[in-house]
Amino acid sequence: MTIRSFHPTPRTLMGPGPSDVSPRVLSALGRPTIGHLDPEFVQMMDEIKSLLQYAFKTENTLTMAVSAPGSAGMETCFVNLIEPGEKVIVCVNGVFGSRMVENVERLGAIAIVINDEWGTPVDVAKVKRAFIEHSDAKCLAFVHAETSTGVLSDAKTLCEVARDNSALSIVDAVTSLGGVELRVDEWGIDAVYSGSQKCLSCVPGISPISFSEKAVEKVKSRKSKVPSWFLDLSLVMGYWEGSGKRSYHHTAPVNSLYALHESLVMLQDEGLENAWKRHESQHQKLKQGLTSLGIEFVVEEQYRLPQLNTVFIPKGVDDNVVRQTLLNEYNLEIGAGLGSFAGKAWRIGLMGYAARTENVTLCVAALTDALKK
Ligand SMILES: Cc1ncc(COP(=O)(O)O)c(C=O)c1O
Repeated sequence: MTIRSFHPTPRTLMGPGPSDVSPRVLSALGRPTIGHLDPEFVQMMDEIKSLLQYAFKTENTLTMAVSAPGSAGMETCFVNLIEPGEKVIVCVNGVFGSRMVENVERLGAIAIVINDEWGTPVDVAKVKRAFIEHSDAKCLAFVHAETSTGVLSDAKTLCEVARDNSALSIVDAVTSLGGVELRVDEWGIDAVYSGSQKCLSCVPGISPISFSEKAVEKVKSRKSKVPSWFLDLSLVMGYWEGSGKRSYHHTAPVNSLYALHESLVMLQDEGLENAWKRHESQHQKLKQGLTSLGIEFVVEEQYRLPQLNTVFIPKGVDDNVVRQTLLNEYNLEIGAGLGSFAGKAWRIGLMGYAARTENVTLCVAALTDALKK
């Protein structure tokens, strides 16, 4: 059998990510590949850095894109900031908090786990109590926007608690960046990572990160070597920050970075605050449509993520049949429930370029039809 070129059926992506990629970003991806140390490319990397500073609302010098997906951004934060034997308070209210625990334990550090029920935000009072019991904890880690449940936690207050206890904060902003308010400098976040494929609506596989000066100090004063060569920031920084003179570290994903650059230019042109507002207003439209179908939200209104709507599957409705109908008849992808929400909830994403009226209209119409069937 001769294998032919792959041409995927175009879909509307309204799941937990990847989200719809704008044609502008896709066309940037197809521009001619140039050398990753070519002066033009190096200049573009500088622009990515300032666009990321804009998106994160930070002036952190160490702001860059890790050449790998969000999980690698997560590992970058942990491998650089945590040393064996250190205590880290980790908040778990969904799948991605549990992954943080994995990261801490694999580094030979001690995870003090604060569990909150799925579908609820991180409980600040519990975190404060954990710091009283473990005043030697060096770091607080939590997920700002839990994609597995559709919940937003209070990153500003949590970072304040970390600061009051002389601990660093590590914040997962994979789903929040570009979709909801996130202010790295104002909230005093020490290390933050995100993903290209959510509200930035870029192709998957890149993880923007940013480290505060305090976090950089911690990396510089480590007693032990960073246990990952690829993610060791003291080495990667030479590539991203060489001020004109870059040293080879790895071959950057050149075309994916064109795509990231374009998606960030689009964010800048729209205005960050306008992007936050657009996600909120499309969420309100979707909420109206879903409510008219009798579909209920899992998460209390004040903690809901506009970009990730977790809703209960109506009683008597087959999860798979509905999602297959949407995919096969409408080329529309919505997300299944994860973990304890599997078979009980759907996750409807309105991320980045997907947060548009035509998508909301399509989703509500397709669900109306599929539920009738
Ligand atoms: C909150 C959160 N953290 C981390 C990740 C991991 O990102 P990636 O799948 O790009 O490795 C995801 C991916 O969905 C996520 O939603």
